[in-house]
Amino acid sequence: MKRELFLPDADATGALGAALARVLPARALVFLEGDLGAGKTTLVRGLLRALGHAGPVKSPTYTLLESYEAGGRRVHHFDLYRVAEPEELEFLGARECLGDEALVLVEWARRAGDWLGSPDLSVALEMAGAGRRAVLESGSGALLDAVVREFETLHEDPSLSH
Ligand SMILES: Nc1ncnc2c1ncn2[C@@H]1O[C@H](COP(=O)(O)OP(=O)(O)O)[C@@H](O)[C@H]1O
Ligand SMILES: [Mg+2]
Repeated sequence: MKRELFLPDADATGALGAALARVLPARALVFLEGDLGAGKTTLVRGLLRALGHAGPVKSPTYTLLESYEAGGRRVHHFDLYRVAEPEELEFLGARECLGDEALVLVEWARRAGDWLGSPDLSVALEMAGAGRRAVLESGSGALLDAVVREFETLHEDPSLSH
């Protein structure tokens, strides 16, 4: 199932991240698709801020993985742009991360082939004028509806995101 959202600016992308923080269960696998600059890391930043993470959120472009504990939850943020072969993920300790009770957010997940398995949710971001279009896909329509509802609430009243 799919839902589409329009994200007029970076704050809206952050609000979508915050909506995911509210709706996703403690353990979930999320793929973030879209070209360089589409807003994948911006979304993760919004999610972490919503969980109460106050420090920096670095793009894991070089480290491939950044892990966080925030709001009583564990978050693993992967960026697989530089991964040439799925086997590299073994060295990263990605197997352990997938087994954790954690939110696992993966930029460039397709570089991992089938290694990651199928996600609970995928968010594809693409340029749309000065903003972005987000296409959300999940096997659960209820999850998608909850994300869209939370996004609309948070986008209207950004003070709720923090
Ligand atoms: N909905 C949006 N509309 C306009 N600009 C956005 C939107 N979402 C994010 N941006 C901007 O686009 C850039 C995206 O960078 P980033 O999140 O690092 O992308 P990615 O991780 O996909 O490469 C940032 O400058 C961010 O402020
Ligand atoms: Mg990024």
